[in-house]
Amino acid sequence: MANIVYIGASLDGFIADKNNCLDWLHDLPNPEGSDLGFADFMARVDAIIMGRNTFETIQGFDCEWPYNKPVFVLSNTLKEVPKVFSDKVSLVRGELTDIAEQLAQQGFKNLYIDGGKTIQSFLQQDLIDELIITTIPTILGSGTPLFGELNEPLKFRHVNAVRYLDCVVKNYYVRQR
Ligand SMILES: NC(=O)c1ccc[n+]([C@@H]2O[C@H](COP(=O)([O-])OP(=O)(O)OC[C@H]3O[C@@H](n4cnc5c(N)ncnc54)[C@H](OP(=O)(O)O)[C@@H]3O)[C@@H](O)[C@H]2O)c1
Repeated sequence: MANIVYIGASLDGFIADKNNCLDWLHDLPNPEGSDLGFADFMARVDAIIMGRNTFETIQGFDCEWPYNKPVFVLSNTLKEVPKVFSDKVSLVRGELTDIAEQLAQQGFKNLYIDGGKTIQSFLQQDLIDELIITTIPTILGSGTPLFGELNEPLKFRHVNAVRYLDCVVKNYYVRQR
C-alpha cells in the first residue's frame, strides 16, 4: 500500500499561479508530446484521491477526461458529481486514514494523491509514502502552495532524478520512516 504524490511544481514550490492558472506548467518545449512518464506512473496506481478544487480545475480543461483509474474526490460541500462523471468519480469525506483503509478494502491500495490542500492534509498526518515532483524552472512568486505547515519535519530519501525536454527535472523521493 502506498500513497503517492505526482505533481508539477514551480521552482518556488507552487502548483498553480495566483490566478489558478497552469499555463506555466503546460508551456514546455515538447514537440513530440512526451508525457514525462505519466502513463508509467498511472500504471502503478489503483485509484486517485483529489481535492474538490483540483476536480473543478480538471472539469474546466479543454480535453478528454485524463484518467483511466477510479477517482475519489474529497469534499465536504459537494453533494453529487455531474452526471457525465458518475461512472468515473465518487465523492468521499471523513478521516483520511478511514478513507484510505476503506479504499484498500475495495482493492485500491496504491493511491495517487492530488491537489495542494489535499497533499498538505495527507502530509500533516504523515500519510504520504512517495513524492514524485517535477520542477518547472519558473518562479511564480505566489499561487497555490504545494507544501504547508507540519507538526514536525518529515524526512524523505532521494531515489532518483530524471531530466526531461532539456528543461524540467522529475525527482523521486520515498518517505524515510
Ligand atoms: N501542478 C500540478 O501538477 C497540479 C496538480 C493538481 C492540482 N493543481 C492545482 O492546484 C489547485 C487546487 O489545489 P488546492 O490546494 O486549491 O485544493 P485541493 O486539494 O484540490 O482541494 C481542496 C478541497 O478539497 C476538499 N477537502 C475535503 N476534505 C479535505 C481534506 N481532508 N484535506 C484537504 N482537502 C479536503 C475541500 O473541499 P470542500 O470545500 O468541498 O470541502 C477543500 O477545499 C488548482 O489550481 C489545480 O489546478 C496543480
